[in-house]
Amino acid sequence: MKTEMILASSNPHKLREFREILEPLGCRIISQHEAGIDLEPDETGETFAENSAIKARKIFEIAKRPVIADDSGLEIDALGGEPGVHSARYGGTRDDKIHNEIVLKKLEGVPDEKRTARFVAAITYIDENGGEHCFLGKFEGRIGYSERGENGFGYDPIFMVGGVSSAELSPEEKNAVSHRGKALRELAKFISENK
Ligand code: IMP
Repeated sequence: MKTEMILASSNPHKLREFREILEPLGCRIISQHEAGIDLEPDETGETFAENSAIKARKIFEIAKRPVIADDSGLEIDALGGEPGVHSARYGGTRDDKIHNEIVLKKLEGVPDEKRTARFVAAITYIDENGGEHCFLGKFEGRIGYSERGENGFGYDPIFMVGGVSSAELSPEEKNAVSHRGKALRELAKFISENK
């Protein structure tokens, strides 16, 4: 029988990513919406790992079934790790364009070697017995000087990897090196080893 897992998100893009990697392992992934759970827990943690655990625990308490939750964001060294866990609502808005403008403005005059940054993703998996397992993935790069590229979302247009922005990578190229791709493959490895 397939192990059914609830993904603590109703974002169709995330659902597809998780399905692509976990369904070949015999898991069936359903969104929290499909599971009939309509709640968005406050992300009050100070780390991505804490926030993914908060989301996963809330859903597990209700559903009492295996749950996966993720949390991610961008850490910029010259800004002391900002926007960090506030990435999605940086500057009090959900507008990606404004997020990128704020970052570029704050980094005006900061030289290339000090523009280091990374995307971080944490995934918490709660198994059928309530055991918690956390997987982290990091994607290192630098903040550029203007927006570039049409792919991706969020901070991708200003996040440079080598000579291109992560919005100039194809989805396949990005998945192969991204924070979420790495954390997701760690989770897949764990699930396949503990079936
Ligand atoms: P959440 O994990 O859905 O809470 O999203 C966190 C926020 O981090 C997003 O809204 C984006 O602003 C940013 N973020 C996370 N991963 C990426 C990425 O791969 N590219 C660009 N921005 C990202």
